Amino acid sequence: MGIHINQELKQFHLTNGKVSYVFHVMKNGQLGQLYYGKALRDREDFSHLQAYDIPTAASCHVYADDLAFSLETIRQEYPVYGNSDFREPAISLSRPDGPFIPNFQYERYQLLKGKPSMEGLPAVYTEDDSDAETLQIVLRDGHLQAKLILTYTIFTHLPVIIRCARLVNEGDSKFHIERLMSASVDFPDKDYSMIHLAGTWSRERHVKERVLEAGIQSISSIRGASSHHHNPFLALKRPDATEHMGEVYGFNMIYSSNFLMQIEVDHYENVRLSTGIHPFGFKWELNPGESFQAPEVAMVYSDKGLNGMSQAFHDLYQGHLIPRQWRHETRPILINNWEATYFDFNEEKLVNIARSASELGIELFVLDDGWFGNRNDDTSSLGDWETDQNKLPNGIESLAGKIKGIGMKFGLWFEPEMISPDSELYRKHPDWAVGMNSQHRTLGRNQFVLDFSRKDIVDYLYEKMAGIIERTDMDYIKWDMNRNITEAFSSKLPPDRQGEFFHRYILGVYDLYERLTSRFPHVLFESCAGGGGRFDPGMMHYAPQAWASDDTDAVERLKIQYGTSFAYPIYSIGSHVSAVPNHQTLRNTPLKTRADTAMFGTFGYELDPLRLTEEEREEIKKQVAAYKQYRNLIRDGRFYRLQSPFESNETAWMIVSREQSEALVGWYKVLAQPNGPKQKTLKLQGLNETFSYSINGEKAYYGDELMQAGLILPVEFNGVNGKIAERGGDYQSGVFHLTKHLMAFAGK
Ligand code: DGJ
Repeated sequence: MGIHINQELKQFHLTNGKVSYVFHVMKNGQLGQLYYGKALRDREDFSHLQAYDIPTAASCHVYADDLAFSLETIRQEYPVYGNSDFREPAISLSRPDGPFIPNFQYERYQLLKGKPSMEGLPAVYTEDDSDAETLQIVLRDGHLQAKLILTYTIFTHLPVIIRCARLVNEGDSKFHIERLMSASVDFPDKDYSMIHLAGTWSRERHVKERVLEAGIQSISSIRGASSHHHNPFLALKRPDATEHMGEVYGFNMIYSSNFLMQIEVDHYENVRLSTGIHPFGFKWELNPGESFQAPEVAMVYSDKGLNGMSQAFHDLYQGHLIPRQWRHETRPILINNWEATYFDFNEEKLVNIARSASELGIELFVLDDGWFGNRNDDTSSLGDWETDQNKLPNGIESLAGKIKGIGMKFGLWFEPEMISPDSELYRKHPDWAVGMNSQHRTLGRNQFVLDFSRKDIVDYLYEKMAGIIERTDMDYIKWDMNRNITEAFSSKLPPDRQGEFFHRYILGVYDLYERLTSRFPHVLFESCAGGGGRFDPGMMHYAPQAWASDDTDAVERLKIQYGTSFAYPIYSIGSHVSAVPNHQTLRNTPLKTRADTAMFGTFGYELDPLRLTEEEREEIKKQVAAYKQYRNLIRDGRFYRLQSPFESNETAWMIVSREQSEALVGWYKVLAQPNGPKQKTLKLQGLNETFSYSINGEKAYYGDELMQAGLILPVEFNGVNGKIAERGGDYQSGVFHLTKHLMAFAGK
């Protein structure tokens, strides 16, 4: 266990009994990779694992007297282009007088207990030194007088390694970073498929799988946000691996802006995975004495299939990434007025919604877009963070007071990074918008983006938001971001430093989050970007929950939430029950199915409670009470995916408490099937074989039977025969609560 170092051979073996990661210093002074995978017993020497070349007429060799040593075939830790390795590199630098081939030579290592903190960027943390150990390797390019520090943290109880890289200019002249990946990992064969999460607005994080093939395959964003389109998550899965068995390697960038996750399969079927800030358009000037920190990447190894990988990410994020104060805290059930009113509200209407919601047991009222400036639609006022006196003549403070008077918490929507061309702020400061004043600026949702690479602008937003938080005694903020960045240009950066813009922008966003969350630690932040356009671990470091998608349709949500769970804890997934017909799909699903789906997330409602029938209100009261009973299980339990919505008409998942004494199972059937199978069973996971579990307070069964023979699904879902199908028709669901039964009465 721990980090083993063979000082003489300069070999490093990071292991924790679950995973091993081995590398060494090669004869050319650079770092070579030897192994990454299931834990190995430590041994004196692993150097035989270094690949050697069998020279051909086409190969290049570093040494004339050692043709077996070729960087084209050897697995490396942080490769460079231009020195006989023809694959894409981890690092690329240039000097004012032209390109430069770096040669970072091993200098020393340093071992640290726990994990060092990282300033300015979101990062995984440890609670105490026993949680993890960190190895830092210092390499030096003598010519450039630059230091490269590669950091590896291995967690004690998780199959997780965190990597990142930092470059320091210790010379007396500047140079430029064109590419500095967070990690590069070479695998010795290509027998994997690549799993990733792709989509678009309203259809985020759908699971995609493709078999690795010769050449480059990648996912990325160059939109200034991690994006709806590709999540900064990628997994390599062995062909025989399944949801619950087999080998999977997962990678997730702890970053919220332009990223690249790339797999290169070369002519010898070696695989190089590189992940980091997207090099496209990126160029960072590093002056003497300055350093540049690449963001972290979380790397998970699982020999328990995709679900095992997900559980490791969930434990990592829930225990070591989200704000400390929220890890064990219960989150309130909320009602958001967006789909109930859109921009059309006044104080009375909002207070009535809140009062009515409070009677249902809902705990937090969130006022969404439209409370400021003169915002009656999405064409104006972003940036003017003053109460709209027409809608709320007594001010936002009065509304907050009334909500609190009802006994509810109060939350508010902001879109701090944006500015409407039709706003007081823009009329006063047109140069605050991203882009060149002399050039056309592209609109997105009728708005421009504020230049968050500028500290004065971030300061301005901080003062504005902090003032409102204080004056309203706010409990929650929904931080939205509704468009991607175009014409990326900051009026404060010199023309030759515009390649720094995107990274400086996100550093500004992180800075604002950091300042607000440390001054107001009790305020719960929910991140949002036109739905789930920035659902990533970077945001999660500040905002423990994220609005998963603007698509609140229960059927669509099955896919979105299922895909999101690949990397993110279900307690981070903002999921609400909305009205029907659904506003995005116009589909009518039963209220029960909507709640049964939303329940596997951070729960809330996004509808007008005043328009509900008495019957619906009674049903909602029960849903709210049920979620209150289950929410700690949803926060702390282990999540299992059972049936994929991407593969069949049915979806199932479950969550099991750490002590295995309780579980919650969700089962969903999209379309009704006439005269279907007479007995349907669902094989459960993660239970204790010897425990007896009662289902919804009734009959009890042993864990082994529920996992091997399966949970027999109620016959009422079995078809559309009116006699037996109590809940016939499309879009049916069932939630089953399992509790450990103390006196075994299985079989009775
Ligand atoms: C996009 C968000 O995803 C919605 O929930 C809502 O807040 C709107 N923006 C408001 O403009």
